[in-house]
Amino acid sequence: MKKPIKKVGLITSGGDAPGMNAAIRAVVRACSYYKVKCVGFYRGYQGIIEGDYTDLDARSVKNIISKGGTILKSARSTEFRTKEGRKKAQESLKAAEIDGLILIGGDGTFTGGVVFGKEYNIPFIGIPGTIDNDIAGTSFTIGYDTALNTVVDAIDKIRDTASSHNRLFFIEVMGRDAGFIALNAGVGAGAEEILIPEEDLGLDRLLESLKKSKRSGKTSSIVVVSEGDKIGKNVFELAEYVSDNLPDYEARVSVLGHMQRGGSPSCFDRVLASRLGVKAVEELLDGKSNQMVGLVNNKVVTSDIEKAIKTSHDINRELLRISDILSV
Ligand code: F6P
Repeated sequence: MKKPIKKVGLITSGGDAPGMNAAIRAVVRACSYYKVKCVGFYRGYQGIIEGDYTDLDARSVKNIISKGGTILKSARSTEFRTKEGRKKAQESLKAAEIDGLILIGGDGTFTGGVVFGKEYNIPFIGIPGTIDNDIAGTSFTIGYDTALNTVVDAIDKIRDTASSHNRLFFIEVMGRDAGFIALNAGVGAGAEEILIPEEDLGLDRLLESLKKSKRSGKTSSIVVVSEGDKIGKNVFELAEYVSDNLPDYEARVSVLGHMQRGGSPSCFDRVLASRLGVKAVEELLDGKSNQMVGLVNNKVVTSDIEKAIKTSHDINRELLRISDILSV
């Protein structure tokens, strides 16, 4: 028979994302509602290893729904990747009398949970929180919507100056392995070209497209480039390459960087985090494990976490076509 869950351990791990605090609040308050204890470990898996935690009750999460970042802090623990690190983590959970874990994070966080769960048979549920939106099993991850809006706002501002100076801007956005931010923010901000990790559009095509833009009377252009784009050149090399080949263009580069991960979460992310947080607690208390919660067709669903991390969350290729048509 499965041990009943009386005390839940909670972490936020990996790259932080706006809405993680709203998810923490939802988990803590759902635990309080269902009368189980909740403990928050600081700095993700590293806090578990070090036994660095705090008891959380309904009042300890007041006024955090609107805050960016994570009150539990986050880290990418290298120690947890080792067998010894995970052994320490298991001992620490035992000492704190934790019966099950809720993991808020992305791919790396879930992978750690799967390995740990297998080694020590610790029940856990994952809540997808990353601005990258690169997790299968959910249409949206917590933080993605806020990041998109931050990026669109930044591109709008850059467009003002690009247009005033008749310039071409290469704007690098986050997404080491996934082009969700680049693609959606690119379409949302009316970018002329979008370069993503999932598709190699090629340098020739880029030059051709920029020439076409000039011929059609455009005086400025925006190219959105995902960090991990497939074209094989970073934004600075791209700007240099285009300047060398199209001297008519005055190119500039803007790297948006970590500002994309900050800020107050959008209403969408707050509601998503609230729904997923409650569901994660309910699933754990119901005896489930190795699952992640997600949103599919606006319904909260639960799916096998191992399957989710092995499956790629595909971008919507239709958006590339739309971008092509609209940048005529
Ligand atoms: O996974 C989220 C993410 O923001 C990626 O888009 C980005 O490549 C990475 O984290 C940056 O990580 P770090 O903050 O460790 O530099």
